[in-house]
Amino acid sequence: QKQGFDWYMRKEIFEQPKAVADTLLGRLNQHGELMLDELHISPELLRRVNKIVIVACGTAFYAGLVAKYAIEHWTRIPCEVELASEFRYRDPIIDPATLVVTISQSGETADTLMAIRHAREQQAKVIAICNTNGATIPRESDAVIYTHAGPEIGVASTKGFTTQVVACYLLGLYLAQVRGMKYGDEIAAILAELETMPRLMQEVLDNQAPVLELAAELKDAPSVLFLGRHVGYPVALEGALKLKELAYIHAEGFAAGELKHGPIALVSQGLPMFVVVPPRGRDQLRDKVISNIAEVRARGARTIVLAEAGDDEARANADTFIELPKVSTLLQPLVATVPLQLFACELATLLGHDVDQPRNLAKSVTVE
Ligand code: F6R
Repeated sequence: QKQGFDWYMRKEIFEQPKAVADTLLGRLNQHGELMLDELHISPELLRRVNKIVIVACGTAFYAGLVAKYAIEHWTRIPCEVELASEFRYRDPIIDPATLVVTISQSGETADTLMAIRHAREQQAKVIAICNTNGATIPRESDAVIYTHAGPEIGVASTKGFTTQVVACYLLGLYLAQVRGMKYGDEIAAILAELETMPRLMQEVLDNQAPVLELAAELKDAPSVLFLGRHVGYPVALEGALKLKELAYIHAEGFAAGELKHGPIALVSQGLPMFVVVPPRGRDQLRDKVISNIAEVRARGARTIVLAEAGDDEARANADTFIELPKVSTLLQPLVATVPLQLFACELATLLGHDVDQPRNLAKSVTVE
């Protein structure tokens, strides 16, 4: 069933173009409007929402962090993202005008489920983004948007994550549409761009050779850091989590702007640092990230730069350059995460670890 792959995880990484295409399938009607028919929450109710709270755990939480940037930009509705395990026990402020969105691949995560029960007790509406038909979380929610990633067998989430991000974009765009946001043209453009993502993700997969070589080169690294900014920040967190869980290597993700507030003290000769550079067009952000690359390299870091093809300024301080296709900033996580997944999978393979069943981890965490 691994179809020639050594691990389910690697197979699932390569299934992402299809998983994303399937998650997008049938969402547009003939007028180019977004349809979320399964969302049995009335447009009137969605127009009254004054706050969105996204709750999730682990990788799904990082999908939520990406979603916050997109949803607030498109809908202008304040959006918070919280770890389900924190949300439940801190008396969160939610009421009937709050829309709670939970993200869970398995649909069985105990902390996320408890968060839903708590939110519904406060009369908030709950939408679940879930990959597992009929699981407990969608059953206990008011509405569900299914990701269509197909079964995810590898314990580490890969296609689960990218399809969660897509489902969050769809939800954000749908909310913007029902609320008649002035971003109408941008919404149409983003929807059109989303349709191109499976092809662009395939391009990244076809270009895996430099990532695999890098894994071989770095397999003895004691620690690896990941930096990103804006939606590149959750991508950095996800890259670090994948490496921790699969390769058992110390890894941390940081917001690039935080470098000077502490993490730069960790930089030493030869320390591998991945940096996700925003696309051109976001030049204010991009310039800052590019100067971060120069700063850490001047202190001896070995820089691995993920940036848009043709970004020569980003390349200038790269020890290794990983080319990404040209996409809008908000959609960049869909392509930027893929090389980080491949890197963690390959490194763990080289170290002789069981990639599909990392030690101490379970696929669904059904206890708090
Ligand atoms: C990381 C990973 C976990 C899950 C988390 C939530 O690779 O798989 O961090 O993302 O346990 O699981 P779900 O999405 O099933 O609620």
